[in-house]
Amino acid sequence: MSRLGSLADPRQDVGGEETALERLEDYLRDRRIEVEKHLAMRLRPEEGLPSSLLEAMRYSLLAPGKRLRPILVSMAAEACGGASDCPWPSAVAVEMIHAYSLIHDDLPAMDDDDLRRGQPTCHRRFGEALAILAGDALLTMAFQVLAEGYPARTAAACCRELATAAGAAGMVGGQVDDLAWESGGERNVEGLEYLHARKTGALIRASLRLGALAAFADRPNPPPPELLERLDGYGRRLGLAFQIVDDLLDVEGDAEQTGKRVGKDAARGKLTYPGFLGAAESRQRAERLGREARACLEPMGADAARLHALVSYVLERDR
Ligand code: IPE
Ligand code: IPE
Ligand code: MG
Ligand code: MG
Ligand code: MG
Repeated sequence: MSRLGSLADPRQDVGGEETALERLEDYLRDRRIEVEKHLAMRLRPEEGLPSSLLEAMRYSLLAPGKRLRPILVSMAAEACGGASDCPWPSAVAVEMIHAYSLIHDDLPAMDDDDLRRGQPTCHRRFGEALAILAGDALLTMAFQVLAEGYPARTAAACCRELATAAGAAGMVGGQVDDLAWESGGERNVEGLEYLHARKTGALIRASLRLGALAAFADRPNPPPPELLERLDGYGRRLGLAFQIVDDLLDVEGDAEQTGKRVGKDAARGKLTYPGFLGAAESRQRAERLGREARACLEPMGADAARLHALVSYVLERDR
């Protein structure tokens, strides 16, 4: 019986790759519903919280996303032999950071987008000022959720992990570089990788590390460094592959499927993999990174089966 109860368990899979992926899709669907339930529970009316702000926060946080980062938290905890349920404070916190980053990413001063997750962007629906503040509130609330959600040692470690990943030398730093490349600079593959590693990769890596920290919350010692390094090696490669596919979808996808405008990266002069290397080589790189990501998990055996199967989902996704 899986530690995750009735959710499909790929470790029991004796069929081929296709079966594992199909089972994973079922698992992802179930997990998404649970993630959304926990997100909604955390965003309730409270004294001092203006209803307009709550509405804008709920609008963006609860809009239909893939919930990849909370799912990574859950899978990493499972791979580390964590308790049966997902560590919800970490899963909720990381999705709050992600939702805030999307609200701000779409603002006119940044990517100036009008469509996100199949609906008008937050600033289109609520105006720029409230969208900025909804982002601020989600960012701040993420750390409140962590601080309230765990014993002191784990809470402090999780706050540090998430702040480092989301902050100035992580996601925010990557976003600054992303915008800077729009106005020029000598383009090279190292710059491209460094940009992606921070703007997208940092939060994906942090999701895995947060899952590991939570899995060890009630053990005498924190996770061993070699376990964190394995997850980190996987996360680095998965994060990069994830953003390459995001860039490819901007070239090859459509707005109906992806829920966001396409063809915008080239129009804005973004530094992207397909823009720099072409679509075919970008796809090959993503696939190579996927193979390397799976190899990082090998020493972890069957406990990491879901993380292993997730690589195909990331590479083959169409939204
Ligand atoms: C979009 O992230 C922004 C990037 C970092 C590429 P996702 O593709 O995970 O967006 P949602 O959460 O599914 O909407
Ligand atoms: C966004 O990257 C990364 C963050 C929000 C931190 P993109 O700008 O490529 O994401 P999309 O394509 O708008 O979702
Ligand atoms: Mg952007
Ligand atoms: Mg964008
Ligand atoms: Mg994009």
